[in-house]
Amino acid sequence: MNFTVAIDGPAAAGKGTISRAVAARFGFAYLDTGALYRAVGMKGGDPIEAAQNLTTDDLARDDLRSLAAGQAASQVAVIPEVRAALLAFQRDFARRPGGAVLDGRDIGTVICPQAEVKLYVTASSEVRAHRRWLEVGGDAAIVLAEVKERDARDMGRADAPLRPAADALVIDTSDLSIEAAVELACAEIARHLRP
Ligand code: C5P
Repeated sequence: MNFTVAIDGPAAAGKGTISRAVAARFGFAYLDTGALYRAVGMKGGDPIEAAQNLTTDDLARDDLRSLAAGQAASQVAVIPEVRAALLAFQRDFARRPGGAVLDGRDIGTVICPQAEVKLYVTASSEVRAHRRWLEVGGDAAIVLAEVKERDARDMGRADAPLRPAADALVIDTSDLSIEAAVELACAEIARHLRP
């Protein structure tokens, strides 16, 4: 069975948590596509070469969740050749037998426009910055500025900008518990699995 769940949205909206939960619930494989861009950003050197030669070791670095990695990722993510180098791997993953969940910025719009389910998970920038601050600590104002800067870069870039696919279900987690958001996502998937 091929079944793809595309989950897009801005940083710290809850995509990763929802993706892992639905993948576990339905027994689907999960790919955090942001980790690919983070690994390219942190590898240093020419980002296009880094994207073309990404290894499992690059993806296993323990600093990929840092603010610096998030910023580096969104800087290399504007480069069309970097995005192109990562495309085939993501598409192959999406069509693996048994079902797949991919989260990122352009999964429903560019990588898997044919995905059976598309979700756009979002929340206010203040709520997202607070969540990120609980994870990374430091100066809350800097974390908020970082979230806004990354949103602007991800939404404003020419190639594969962050936006909801026309047929995506939007889930705003600003005032929603994780459990409630996961239930909404699971109900949407179940509806498409058993129409
Ligand atoms: O999701 P995460 O915060 O790990 O993503 C890091 C950065 O990687 C994003 O801000 C975005 O610039 C880039 N990205 C992307 N396309 C994806 C996933 C991530 O451009 N599918």
